[in-house]
Amino acid sequence: MPMRFVLVCIAFFMGQITRAQRIEMVTEQGKCSIRGMSVVSDNIVWVSGSNGTVGRTVDGGKTWTWMQVKGHEKNDFRDIEAFDEKTAIIMAVGEPAFILKTFNGGSTWKRVYEDSSKGMFLDAMEFWENGNGIVVGDPIDNKIYVARTADYGVSWERYNTKSLPATDSGEAMFASSGTNIRKYSSQEAMVVTGGKRSRLLMHERWVDIPMLQGGNSTGANSLAVWNEAPRKARIVIVGGDFQQDSSTVGNCVYSTNGGRTWKIPEVPPHGYRSCVEFLTGQMLVACGTSGVDISMDGGKKWRLVSKESFHVCQRAKTGNVVYLAGSRGRIAKLVGY
Ligand SMILES: *[C@@H]1O[C@H](CO)[C@@H](O)[C@H](O)[C@H]1NC(C)=O
Ligand SMILES: *[C@@H]1O[C@H](CO)[C@@H](O)[C@H](O)[C@H]1NC(C)=O
Repeated sequence: MPMRFVLVCIAFFMGQITRAQRIEMVTEQGKCSIRGMSVVSDNIVWVSGSNGTVGRTVDGGKTWTWMQVKGHEKNDFRDIEAFDEKTAIIMAVGEPAFILKTFNGGSTWKRVYEDSSKGMFLDAMEFWENGNGIVVGDPIDNKIYVARTADYGVSWERYNTKSLPATDSGEAMFASSGTNIRKYSSQEAMVVTGGKRSRLLMHERWVDIPMLQGGNSTGANSLAVWNEAPRKARIVIVGGDFQQDSSTVGNCVYSTNGGRTWKIPEVPPHGYRSCVEFLTGQMLVACGTSGVDISMDGGKKWRLVSKESFHVCQRAKTGNVVYLAGSRGRIAKLVGY
C-alpha cells in the first residue's frame, strides 16, 4: 500500500476517534476534594474545595496556581463564583459559614459575609450578569436559608424567607457541586432539595418530583435549566443515592414544560450524579463518583463516557470548553463534543 494512502487512512481514523466524547485529564493536585468550580472562559478556570484550597488557571489548564486561604485552612469551600482572572467569591459551608472575596487573583481574601447561627450550612451560590447573587443553605426553623447580594458579593444581606413555603422534616440540600440553585429568569432562581424529601422550589412554591427520596443520602443534588421561552424551560435534575453510587434508581428527572410535568429518562445516567450542565439546548453532561454521562436529546437517553469519578462539571460561561473536577484535586476536560 502506498505510504500516502496509509497516512490518509490513519488521519481519517484518528479524526473519527477524536470526535467521540471523552475525558482528558488536565491535572491532579492531590490534596483536596474539589466541589466548587467556575469556568469564566475557555482559559480562565477557578476551583475550590476542602483543606481551604483554591486553584486557578489562566492558560486553559496548562499551569495551575494552588493556594490555601490563610486562616481558613480547615474550611471546605464547596462553591466558588469567579468573575474574571482576578475576582472571585468562595463559600465555606459552616459553622460558622463564611463568604470571602478576592480582587487580586487570590493573593488576599476579604471576609464579606459570616453567619455563626447554629445549624448553618451553606450549599450553593448563583449569580446573574448584573451582579445580583444569592446563596442558599440548609433549612433553619423549616425555611431554606437565603442571603442576597446586589454588588457581585461585596455586601450580603440575609433574606427574609417568610414568603417561602416550609421544608419537610429531613429535607435539606446536598452541597455536592454548588448547583442545587440555578437562575431561570432575570429575577428568579430554582432550588432542589434532597434527603427524606426531594423537591423543586420555584415561584415560591414546592413542586414534587419523581426523584429517589426517603433516606439521608437520597435525592436531587443538582439541576440545569435551559430557558429559551417562558413556560417552555427545560429542567434536568440529577442525584440518586451517594451511598449507592452505581444505582440508577430515581437518579434523574426532566421537564420540557417549565416544571409542569416530569419524565424519567428512557436510559438514565449510569449511577448517582452530583452535577448536571447544559452544553447546548439538547446536549447535557452529568458527573458523579461513578462516572460521566452525556445526553444528546435533552435528558431522555444517557451514554456513559467515563467511569472516572468527578463531583462537578461546567461549561465556560463565555466559551465552549467543559471542565470537570473531583476528589484528590483532579481536573479534566470533556473533549470531542
Ligand atoms: C488535606 O491535606 C492533608 C495534608 O496535606 C491530607 O493528608 C488530606 O488528605 C487532605 N484532604 C483531602 C480531602 O484531600
Ligand atoms: C439518618 O441519619 C441519622 C443521624 O445520623 C440516623 O439516626 C438515621 O438513622 C439515618 N436515617 C436513615 C434513613 O439512614
